[in-house]
Amino acid sequence: RKNDRESMMIVNSFAQKYFSEKLFQSEEGIAVGMSYLRERGFREDIIKKFQVGFCLDSWNAFSEQATQSGYKKEFLVKTGLSIDKEKGMIDRFKGRVIFPIHGIAGRTLGFGGRILKKDPKAAKYLNSPESEVYHKSRILYGIYQAKKSIVQNDKCYLVEGYTDVLSFHQAGIENVVASSGTALTADQIRLVKRFSNNMTIIYDGDPAGIKASLRGIDLVLEQELNVKVLLLPDGEDPDSFSRTMGSTELTQYIEKNETDFIVFKTNLLLADAKNDPVKRANLIIDIVRSIAIIPDNIVRSVYVKECSNILNVDERVLYTEINKIKGRLQ
Ligand code: UTP
Ligand code: MN
Ligand code: MN
Ligand code: MN
Ligand code: MN
Repeated sequence: RKNDRESMMIVNSFAQKYFSEKLFQSEEGIAVGMSYLRERGFREDIIKKFQVGFCLDSWNAFSEQATQSGYKKEFLVKTGLSIDKEKGMIDRFKGRVIFPIHGIAGRTLGFGGRILKKDPKAAKYLNSPESEVYHKSRILYGIYQAKKSIVQNDKCYLVEGYTDVLSFHQAGIENVVASSGTALTADQIRLVKRFSNNMTIIYDGDPAGIKASLRGIDLVLEQELNVKVLLLPDGEDPDSFSRTMGSTELTQYIEKNETDFIVFKTNLLLADAKNDPVKRANLIIDIVRSIAIIPDNIVRSVYVKECSNILNVDERVLYTEINKIKGRLQ
């Protein structure tokens, strides 16, 4: 088993170098992959830092090369780089720009591949399948490149996607990781917690992003981290948004607009509840539920006070609700 893991990581490392070489040195890689990345505005130093690559638009060019180089079919298939078909092995990431996914120590555990042409039938991103080395729910994209900066700033930004991470680095913000989609997990939060207790969620400014932020808040609180949220303008994601301003401006914007989770949640729900008393009551219960998740008594009491002010509800009422919920949780 341990040998299998090692063999898989060796295959991944070969693939990462192969894809990178194709992007920088092959005619097709330069004309198709590199052009795409340039058009999106990614600088070469960032592309190199994240070891971005390209998989030729051929059914099996990668699988062939890997086999010829002596890599075993078993591990090509187990890593998901190749797919076993009757006719032979084919390349999973055919024709895609490749984002290697690194573990904390910098080893390549898996890949995300972005499609270049608009195709409503194909997934925008294909990822490595779950395997002994790649567990999507336990990995945060960018953690290897971010960890030092997370410690230095004692803070971590959480975004959705690969390109969001790259663009933040390009703007000079390096303490950023991606949940690779919106399904944040407790394991991912624990990974951040090894480096800092402070997290700001910056998901896409669309309904899915907002919904995921609300869900993320509770998960982060459960792991005893402090959580803030930055809501981006409608239709923007961290990648697109960071391109609209300079690096200093971006940092200032984030610092000015990130809000404590309770303010974020309250404002969001208040806007919806307006003066409807039933909705307001549900809102209070919803927020109290989040506060009840916080394990630390002192931190919890700070939030109760804040919540009491914002919602104009007596602290004692809030505590009664919290104790009810906590009783149920035990
Ligand atoms: P988004 O749909 O927000 O894509 O998904 P994006 O990150 O903005 O990508 P670009 O800018 O269009 O290139 C956020 C993340 O969700 C995962 C990827 O990790 C993506 O970066 N995702 C998305 C998938 O795994 N598969 C998909 O088909 C779509
Ligand atoms: Mn495992
Ligand atoms: Mn999104
Ligand atoms: Mn996005
Ligand atoms: Mn995007």
